[in-house]
Amino acid sequence: MQAVILVGGFGTRLRPLTFATPKPLLPIANVRQLEHLIAALGSAGVTRAVLALGFKPEPFFQAFPDGTCAGVDLHYAVEPEPLDTAGAVGFAARDAGIDSTFIVMNGDILSDLDLAALVAFHRARGAEGTLHLTPVEDPTQYGVVEADADGWVRRFVEKPQPGETESRVINAGTYVLEPSVLDRIAPMQRVSIERVVFPAMVADGCLAALATDDYWIDTGRPDTYLKANLDLVDGTRSLILSSVGANARVSATASVTHSVIGEGATVDDGSVIIDSVVLPGARVGSSVRLERSLVMGTVGAGASLTDCVIGVDAVVAPGSQLVAARVPDPATMG
Ligand code: GTP
Repeated sequence: MQAVILVGGFGTRLRPLTFATPKPLLPIANVRQLEHLIAALGSAGVTRAVLALGFKPEPFFQAFPDGTCAGVDLHYAVEPEPLDTAGAVGFAARDAGIDSTFIVMNGDILSDLDLAALVAFHRARGAEGTLHLTPVEDPTQYGVVEADADGWVRRFVEKPQPGETESRVINAGTYVLEPSVLDRIAPMQRVSIERVVFPAMVADGCLAALATDDYWIDTGRPDTYLKANLDLVDGTRSLILSSVGANARVSATASVTHSVIGEGATVDDGSVIIDSVVLPGARVGSSVRLERSLVMGTVGAGASLTDCVIGVDAVVAPGSQLVAARVPDPATMG
């Protein structure tokens, strides 16, 4: 089976981290997010992953120079212009010559979903498409899905007002599709799969959905990207990865609590790191305090950062006291 992974978005919410590295190539506990996704697809029997690329394709070519990832063959489909989610699926699937049942995945989610079970559910229903749904506490910011007892989608409610729907499950960004869905997507046009293609399939009564309460997270915001990292080192998920990457240098007098230290990163004497991610290659000087922060660049001695995001080329001056800052500030950049 083949899978299309949507990885062509701009990742604006994770700026400045995504100025340097596309979101799917950012590490989650020292393993690129895309590698987590493709490993899961490979375990479910996917033998070829088609990357639907747009913005910044080159880092993907460099990241996987032998054209494979987690033992799965890669196919690169580079859009000439952003085609939105359905346009991107259509372009990539045609480019790769997909002509049988396939999986589609957003490149900015992580989950413990049993993909093989989703495919089996899709086949048992004889659906044209099947969505994975996940419950959320506050659905008002999401596309909520209403499905009937037999697993057929009845309605989408985008960002519902209180009382507008009883449903608490949202589109979780993993789909199983028949190739006939491609006939619903006009070639080379900007089309949203959530807002255009799926509602049309609901009207035709051929879109199924499976809700599960497996671990699921959308890694696209700084707070959720941070949580996705920490969840992989603190036992929240069944998979537990090391919190300190290869060749990282953490001073014996530094204190690191519930945090991830990236490959080749350095943390100097007397620093205190709590609930944070120091990304690969980052430099944390002596006596720095980091709390709930993401650091890709350099933090000078004695600085204190709370809820901050520091980009790869950024240098935080020694002694700085920053709260909820992004350096550089994406609002002032193009
Ligand atoms: P933000 O800018 O922070 O909203 O992130 P994003 O651009 O990644 O957008 P969003 O999270 O809504 O996108 C969901 C998924 O679709 C992500 O995996 C994106 O990489 C991908 N995506 C969004 N738009 C496009 C597009 O036009 N082309 C391709 N190939 N992928 C897209």
